[in-house]
Amino acid sequence: MGQMNTNPDAAVASQEEISAEISALHQEYERSKSQGGAEETNVRLNFPPYRSSLLRHPTKSLHHADPEEIELHSPAFGDRDVSPLEADLTIQHGGEPIGERIVVVGRVIDADGHPVPHQLVEVWQANAAGRYIHKRDQHPAPIDPNFTGVGRILTNANGEYSFTTIKPAPYPWKNHHNAWRSAHIHFSLFGTAFTQRIVTQMYFPGDPLFDLDPIYQSITDPAARDRLVAQYDHTVSQHEWNTGYRWDIVLSGTNRTWTEQEEQ
Ligand SMILES: [Fe+2]
Repeated sequence: MGQMNTNPDAAVASQEEISAEISALHQEYERSKSQGGAEETNVRLNFPPYRSSLLRHPTKSLHHADPEEIELHSPAFGDRDVSPLEADLTIQHGGEPIGERIVVVGRVIDADGHPVPHQLVEVWQANAAGRYIHKRDQHPAPIDPNFTGVGRILTNANGEYSFTTIKPAPYPWKNHHNAWRSAHIHFSLFGTAFTQRIVTQMYFPGDPLFDLDPIYQSITDPAARDRLVAQYDHTVSQHEWNTGYRWDIVLSGTNRTWTEQEEQ
């Protein structure tokens, strides 16, 4: 049975309404920037087209905890805590997961371009059908019994990371009617102190859903959005085995990678 391409619930916005809201906010930002307003390098915590951001963003200034005290209790990861096998998300089960095998590489660098070595990088993602393993994801796409979608990597002495996985597909979500997320991989970097943790997302070049995705578009500055998009890198692709992507992560400074948790 085919599905009607109409909006069954007037209380739920259409893609056209969401796209118009995104466009208006971006035009307002560009106007402000052209008049000398500040360049935004981070996500807007209150971005109305991303509906749940309305209830979730902080309304009071953040309470600054004492880092000295927090670090007494923070986890400390060493080289021996993370197995190199955890960097291959395609070998966690008895068989091969379905989908396009990819290798993602990159460097974690600080604001001055210095590599950040021995960083714990955690990744999680949907499978090649756009389905997460967790129970809250109920959309009718198949779970892959050979793919959990979770991995951990430590950067090497040069701040480089590398992992093997399956290219995730876009998936639907409930922000508005017929809402789809651009394909992405979630990243968390713990840093060497608890207060350095960042959570962000990596996207794939040329995704046709970029313009329609209010989470991606909640970063108002086009250059800051571009920094979340990996590059295809043929030197990372391997003959008859995988395609390759490269994505560098900047922990702080003007060219920082957008993160989900911190205010600008
Ligand atoms: Fe996701």
